[in-house]
Amino acid sequence: MEENLDYPIREIPDLPLEESTEEEIVKKIEQAQELTKKVRIPKLTVLKWVRFPQTLDFSQPFRAVIMGTTGSGKSALVETLATKSDQYNNGEGKIIDIFASRDLENLAWCRHEQYKDDVLLIHGNDVKLSCEWHTKKIGDMTLKDYQEHKVILSVPVFYSSLEDEWKSIAKMTGILQQRTSYDRHKVWFVAVREGSSLLYSRIGVGDSQGVAKNKFVYAIREFRHSGCAIGVDILRFTGLDVEVRSLADFLFLKAHGLEGLADELRWVYAYYDLFVDIMRQPEWAFIIATKKGGLGHGNFQLPYIHKGTHEDFLTLFNIEIKYGDKINYADKGNNHTSDFEHVDIMKVRIAKGIGTAAIAKGGTFDIDGKTMTLQKRSGRTVYQQILKHNQDIDTSGSCHICKRLDQQEQSTTRDPAVNS
Ligand SMILES: Nc1ncnc2c1ncn2[C@@H]1O[C@H](COP(=O)(O)OP(=O)(O)OP(=O)(O)O)[C@@H](O)[C@H]1O
Ligand SMILES: [Mg+2]
Ligand SMILES: [Zn+2]
Repeated sequence: MEENLDYPIREIPDLPLEESTEEEIVKKIEQAQELTKKVRIPKLTVLKWVRFPQTLDFSQPFRAVIMGTTGSGKSALVETLATKSDQYNNGEGKIIDIFASRDLENLAWCRHEQYKDDVLLIHGNDVKLSCEWHTKKIGDMTLKDYQEHKVILSVPVFYSSLEDEWKSIAKMTGILQQRTSYDRHKVWFVAVREGSSLLYSRIGVGDSQGVAKNKFVYAIREFRHSGCAIGVDILRFTGLDVEVRSLADFLFLKAHGLEGLADELRWVYAYYDLFVDIMRQPEWAFIIATKKGGLGHGNFQLPYIHKGTHEDFLTLFNIEIKYGDKINYADKGNNHTSDFEHVDIMKVRIAKGIGTAAIAKGGTFDIDGKTMTLQKRSGRTVYQQILKHNQDIDTSGSCHICKRLDQQEQSTTRDPAVNS
């Protein structure tokens, strides 16, 4: 163990976050943003290698995994790595931010001075976007669309259901793999925000999620053959992410919570203190462990584009979303659930709190003095309708099925008993 690090992580010059007022924090962030606006590319520096010093090369298709607790600065670091990758590729790189988080944070690229004029927004087939950016329906997307734009984004709210989004992600990943050769210095960067929700969420929205997930794990392994670098941001440490983590060329450890580091990383404690360096690590710091055995710590600047919690990107970027209002009459057969049936199931569920098994049996239910008849279904079908309804509300504020049948109040009422 090395004593006396000449620049220990705890001495990284910091602006104390604790005991700061909200105003001070906002000011600090504005200052950080001002600073990076001038330098264009936020700095990322390894201040000290405690083992096996190494020069970080971002010009190759590297794989970076960033792990840390909520709010530890993972996404900001992914953004910094994206711009680093472009810088190391002499500005010939690309930023592909299609595995996004729920809060639209990847739209941040729309305010990047150098990139904003060449952003392509991918959206669901039944969704219309009105905005000043280039847009493309996922159904029409080809490899050419990646080639012809600098920044390619897919945002959860650009789909009318979670299922559509999964399908779209699977398709975009597949298209990337059609890139079978690439020139040196033309590495594309793929950002994966909140990789854990993509990998481990147990939302059962049909097969499309499984397909997207498998494609994604495969992609992490194989992306470098398509000349893609990848930055994955992962929240929790579970046994499952070993398959992703073990592939990392660079593992960035951000602040962790009480659970500390995973067992296989306990050796890091010989160099860094759990309480001081890891639990209380400021957002701008990181510990880096490399595939070649390097271990060190450093800091990075907050990209000025990074989304602030109070920002409303749809308004800021003047993007209007219109969801398709095609009513699903289930005319493909009785195995399909129509929009009307969805609305009725939710009505019974929300008004009466009746269990899925009882709803699945079908029959008549009294709601607000009216008798409603439901047909017999499997418990799973009923459960999926409830999930779909809740997920839609979580993703975009309202359930589109209920909305398109003018159930305004119901469209924003979640079923509290089911988690998505
Ligand atoms: N390099 C930095 N310098 C200064 N502040 C930073 C830096 N990186 C992050 N922050 C601050 O930390 C906040 C949270 O960062 P970020 O959104 O990247 O965290 P996260 O780990 O992705 O969070 P979540 O788990 O919610 O997705 C930012 O909004 C910013 O205020
Ligand atoms: Mg994040
Ligand atoms: Zn609904």
